[in-house]
Amino acid sequence: MDPNQSIYDNLGGEVALRALVESFYPKVQNDPLLGPLFPEDINPVMEKQYMFLSQFFGGPSLYSEEYGHPMMRARHLPFPITEKHGEAWLRCMGEALTDIGAEEPLRGFVLNRLSGPARHFVNSPS
Ligand code: HEM
Repeated sequence: MDPNQSIYDNLGGEVALRALVESFYPKVQNDPLLGPLFPEDINPVMEKQYMFLSQFFGGPSLYSEEYGHPMMRARHLPFPITEKHGEAWLRCMGEALTDIGAEEPLRGFVLNRLSGPARHFVNSPS
């Protein structure tokens, strides 16, 4: 891990981010808690997540260029998200990071950066 580079570059840029979301969403869909929240056609969600994570990790601002201010907590309000959902989301992401070959300390650093938003999007009691 090179601390002088963005997470985006540390992970491996566009190719790595694409691989990350392609590994992540099948896990989400197979998760008993998360799966039912998502539409059957996962491709549009995958594309938005690719665009969002690119900018969240310090790469090109793809999401905001297309959709404006992310307002991510607001965009998650229609869905009942408990702490358990947040934990499951992070677990799937941890597995996806392993799948794309992200090694420690980068893998833990990335998960730590995502754990803030994941907790912040909790909007329902368990
Ligand atoms: C805490 C657990 C989470 C749950 C249960 C969850 C669930 C969802 C659901 C159900 C959608 C809508 C799918 C649809 O279009 O129908 C969504 C969209 C999205 N989520 Fe999450 N999410 C979680 C955490 C996160 C985190 C931590 C991030 C990023 C830091 C994130 C980024 C996004 C993005 C970028 C979208 C697309 C937004 C858009 O429609 O423009 N989510 N999420």
